[in-house]
Amino acid sequence: MPSKNNGPGLTGMDPTAKRKASHVDLVLKENVNYIKSTGFEKYEFVHNALPEIDYSEIDTSVRFFSHKFSAPIIVSSMTGGYERAGRINSSIAELCKARNIGMGVGSQRQALQNSNYLESFRVVRRISGDIFVMGNIGAAQVADGFALKEVRRMVEMVEADALAVHLNALQELIQPEGDRNFRGVISGIARLVRVLDIPVIVKETGAGINAAAARKLVDAGVSAIDVSGAGGTSWSAIETLRRDDRRIGTKFWNWGTPTAEALVQVNSIPARKKIKLISSGGIRDGLDVAKSIALGADICAGAQPFLKALDEDGTDGLISEFDNWVEELKGAMFLTGSSNVNQLRKAKIVKVLA
Ligand SMILES: Cc1cc2nc3c(=O)[nH]c(=O)nc-3n(C[C@H](O)[C@H](O)[C@H](O)COP(=O)(O)O)c2cc1C
Repeated sequence: MPSKNNGPGLTGMDPTAKRKASHVDLVLKENVNYIKSTGFEKYEFVHNALPEIDYSEIDTSVRFFSHKFSAPIIVSSMTGGYERAGRINSSIAELCKARNIGMGVGSQRQALQNSNYLESFRVVRRISGDIFVMGNIGAAQVADGFALKEVRRMVEMVEADALAVHLNALQELIQPEGDRNFRGVISGIARLVRVLDIPVIVKETGAGINAAAARKLVDAGVSAIDVSGAGGTSWSAIETLRRDDRRIGTKFWNWGTPTAEALVQVNSIPARKKIKLISSGGIRDGLDVAKSIALGADICAGAQPFLKALDEDGTDGLISEFDNWVEELKGAMFLTGSSNVNQLRKAKIVKVLA
């Protein structure tokens, strides 16, 4: 999917569709990464010279809610809501079906307002069969006193197995047209948990969820937390590049809790066992996945690398990116003597840098 081919062009699209298209374009054409790292480089596995396992028998599969995944990897919530987004979602759904992993769709609100955009979301379930799919709604909409009928329509649109609520205060701060009223988010999330009969997952979008926020989310009854920490895609960067005045966005480019730090913090809260923990934000290879698992994550998620692989080499590129991650994950499992993911959770990992 070459980046020059943006479908019918931006003219004729509504402002939300245009914004979503510009987000994808900027991620593909510009450097929108944090200038600080996830912190995973501070951790190293202790090498096991006597692994006493057979590489060919390594099992990377995990259970996540009611689904069995071939590897602890989810393609994170990204897009939907315009023509090219439909093609992106359909390729990601193909990968997820072929490799039996889960995926998220991007924010669905706009599809409720304009039925032209429904197809770019519906295509996911049509192609993916019965894989794990997460719907997506923004914190600001949840705080707004959402209509239950609308949330149910979002769930039905992709026959979602879980609904992800994204926390994106950093993005809304820098976005010129951003929605900055975050009053009522936590009570809105608690209400969602009460009324929905599927798990509610709360995710950041790259600035990280720390222990204090995680405790509030557990009290609100969420089923999973995706820390989505700093070190990968910076939403301040993306929104900065959409503005004429770049001062504020540049100042906040690096704002956020690095992923490894957020993960370790949330993993250590007393109520940890009540939730599933997802590591994302700057996960760039199978070693990051392996380290995340050893540091307490149940599963990992990645966004930007999959979008880029698809853009550069189409669905084959997307599939080989995923296969590379699994090969690297298996390498780390072999060298720590972990023949399955539960053993990897107990593998020795040490902090080598302060
Ligand atoms: C193009 C793009 C669009 C995104 N749109 C959404 C979205 O609609 N909803 C959401 O929850 N997260 C969205 N995200 C955030 C990702 O799910 C993820 O939390 C973040 O990009 C950090 O992961 P990464 O470093 O692997 O990209 C988007 C990310 C990208 C790259």
